Amino acid sequence: MTKRILSGMQPTGNLHLGNYLGALKNWVKMQDEAECYYCVVDLHAMTIPQDPEKLRLSVRETAAAYIASGIDVNKSTLFPQSAVSAHTELNWILATMTPLGWLNRMTQFKEKSAKNRDHELLGLYAYPVLMAADILVYQATHVPVGEDQKQHLELARDLAGAFNRAYNREYFTLPEPMIIGEATRVMSLRDGTKKMSKSDESDYSRINLTDDADTIALKFRKAKTDAEPLPETLAELEKRPEADNLVTIYAALSDKTRQDILSAHAGAQFSGFKKDLTELAVAKLAPIADTLRRLMGDVAEIDRMLAKGAEKANAVTQKHLREVKDIVGLWRA
Ligand code: AMP
Ligand code: TRP
Repeated sequence: MTKRILSGMQPTGNLHLGNYLGALKNWVKMQDEAECYYCVVDLHAMTIPQDPEKLRLSVRETAAAYIASGIDVNKSTLFPQSAVSAHTELNWILATMTPLGWLNRMTQFKEKSAKNRDHELLGLYAYPVLMAADILVYQATHVPVGEDQKQHLELARDLAGAFNRAYNREYFTLPEPMIIGEATRVMSLRDGTKKMSKSDESDYSRINLTDDADTIALKFRKAKTDAEPLPETLAELEKRPEADNLVTIYAALSDKTRQDILSAHAGAQFSGFKKDLTELAVAKLAPIADTLRRLMGDVAEIDRMLAKGAEKANAVTQKHLREVKDIVGLWRA
């Protein structure tokens, strides 16, 4: 069976080093091994209030960040989720088969809705069902994501299984999560127990893909650490979350293991290690930021690429949607 990949990110604010190391870097690698579909999930972004013009611009920016990170539109299909209506149609069909108990278990919903108790929305609750539709409507075999999406992917597999059982046929492919690399969960630079996130109010908690060299240097210099030098073994990194995080980032950026990094830097003080890390990060990220800026200078070209991607995505998904409609007894357009 050919490998088919689908993944996506929300167009909310700047993408950061966690997005890059946890997801994007793996997306780029998959392009030569599989048929790849990468979307910007603007429908998911609507689960929090959005300014219409900013939302459209953020989709372009996120698409530009995919391309700047190495997604090649001649190899991969790149498109805005909302331009491919089969996602929302399959979403409804899957919603009719989703027990509320499954959604009640989703930790991301619990975390997000806890922040906004007086404004709990059906869309946020149903978010994982739309994500399952995103994946299943392509019959994706693999989904490269960061660690935080694991539970959502299990739900997608469960829904594929529920559909297949209900209609008594092996129609949907059960998608495999691809949570790979050294940095599946990059942590905040200010607090090694919290995930690096777009929504953290402190910009010092994350390295954005658009940060310039001075900003990257400053953020690493200010990054929280402890007083001990770097240890020799991974076991000694346990209970030192901030140290572990910087070693993890170093390893992922240089395509080495954490143990390789410890072997090379054991006994080093953080002041020196952070300088090396800054140099490495600037070398990897500065070209991405430059390309991103250049691409954003011609949004018409980005729109053309997205339209071309959407056309391909529509062709594939309409075929699958017709099959699903036939199976469940709905009417084709
Ligand atoms: P999001 O920013 O929530 O739309 O996430 C987009 C992708 O980046 C998903 O695959 C996430 O799992 C991944 N991701 C987000 N934050 C991190 C992080 N701190 N470490 C690793 N992966 C992350
Ligand atoms: N929920 C994912 C996130 O926040 C984004 C997403 C939406 C996604 N649909 C997807 C990821 C389909 C992978 C596959 O990161």
